[in-house]
Amino acid sequence: MRQASARLSYYDLKPARDSFLEEVAAGLARPQKEISPKYFYDQRGCELFEAICATPEYYPTRVETAIMQSHVREMARHLGAGCVVVEYGSGTSRKTRILIGELHPLAYIPIDIAGEQLRLAAAELAAAFPELIVIAVCADYSRRFALPGLAALEGSRRVIYFPGSTIGNFTAPEARRFLEHAAALARAGGGMLVGVDLKKEHALLDSAYNDARGVTAAFNLNLLARINRELGANFDLAGFRHRAFYNARLGRIEMHLVSVRPQRVALGGRLFSFRDGETIHTENSYKYSVAEFRKLAREAGFEPVACWTDPQRLFSVHYLSVAA
Ligand code: AVJ
Repeated sequence: MRQASARLSYYDLKPARDSFLEEVAAGLARPQKEISPKYFYDQRGCELFEAICATPEYYPTRVETAIMQSHVREMARHLGAGCVVVEYGSGTSRKTRILIGELHPLAYIPIDIAGEQLRLAAAELAAAFPELIVIAVCADYSRRFALPGLAALEGSRRVIYFPGSTIGNFTAPEARRFLEHAAALARAGGGMLVGVDLKKEHALLDSAYNDARGVTAAFNLNLLARINRELGANFDLAGFRHRAFYNARLGRIEMHLVSVRPQRVALGGRLFSFRDGETIHTENSYKYSVAEFRKLAREAGFEPVACWTDPQRLFSVHYLSVAA
């Protein structure tokens, strides 16, 4: 489906409508039950994520925004005016505004799984930048899809923007594959600006995912509420609790939903049993050193060009190029 005005278009590639039930059921049938974090982002989940970003404990959004503000001129010089910016997981596009204001790209292609938020963000961005072509694409980018709207922009240099450390949701092989696809899309001469959360003191990481007001817990539990709403399951939300911790051996935050008693849950005509203390693994958030991320980028065909961090070295933003 396509909706167009002169400069703003919206493509709905209908992510996940058919596969949501199948994927959740398959994940709950595994020995370690799991549900992909991409399903966090229904309307309520988007609101809760925004609320997480405003908690005092969750530093990544604030710190990355500050890095962008401090270094946007240099970043824009690397990216080059007149380029096409493709953003994965664009959300509210708030950090992107900083970039676009300085960069003056020809076009901006935000891609996100959350349609309503995307529609709004794209409309606001198009209104704020009257010269900019905006092509919003609602899609699940963990699956293969053809990016619409590129044909008319064929001659332009392409730059991928992937902020927020969303790349941390991927395991190393998944991240490598994603970066390879990004490099292929950017083509020789193109590049990628990517935000990556850094390894740090464990206590800081633990508290970022265990905020005192319980916003992250509500975000995690909303996954079950969403599955009840959309798939007609009967999860008892009081029967599960939020758990997040830094797994130092694997270099990642893990989020789980812990069953507080033995119970059974009905979903799609099947019953899923939980032991007392058994968990559903709902998210990984991998943390990288600057060197580790550069190595991964190189393996995927990028050349690391620049890296900006905050004074406390909490977060990093890398510019990678695809060799011509
Ligand atoms: C949006 C995936 C980057 O991993 O830090 C925040 C999501 N989960 N708090 C992250 C999240 C719990 C976030 N990403």
